Amino acid sequence: MNRRELVQSAITAGVLSGLPVKAATELPRTPRDYTGPFYPKGPRNPKNDLIVGEPRAEILHLSGRVLAPNGSPHPGVLVDIWQTDPNGRYKHPRDREQDNLMDGFLYWGEALTDAEARFRFRTYVPGRYAARPAQHIHYKVWQDRKELLTSQIYFDELGGARGLARSERAAALQTVSLERIDDNSVAAGLDIVI
Ligand SMILES: [Fe+2]
Repeated sequence: MNRRELVQSAITAGVLSGLPVKAATELPRTPRDYTGPFYPKGPRNPKNDLIVGEPRAEILHLSGRVLAPNGSPHPGVLVDIWQTDPNGRYKHPRDREQDNLMDGFLYWGEALTDAEARFRFRTYVPGRYAARPAQHIHYKVWQDRKELLTSQIYFDELGGARGLARSERAAALQTVSLERIDDNSVAAGLDIVI
């Protein structure tokens, strides 16, 4: 059972037990993962749509919620993502070939959770890079400028974490499934438990 299924089953149990929604059991907290060397430098990008203009690669619709272990929502928290482009490059002075970055891609973005603690992003499926062969998206969760979590998302259909998460249990909790939407887009759901 992956993160999504674990959380969904707990939430469903809460729903079935009656409103307000409350998990019957504690949801497993999202494990921490490494920030890595490529955390964005420079001005923030306060957008949740990282694609500018006509898409030029496979689109990933990433959405989810930020929850407490008892299933209650965390509205008004900031989810801050950064990732490679489909060619496996970060926009960061420490990454290679900064002259060959992808036009029309913002590389990082932010989304504020709504009243139900939902967030959503439109981005590209991240590319692989040599040092870390598991395709992944980095993120931090912030509240009032206080960092609550740093972690990463891995994808079942892209080989999972390939041993890169801090433990097998962590890998299972950080790995989500991709659902195909159409020829050029997939979707993934991530519930972050803090
Ligand atoms: Fe990375």
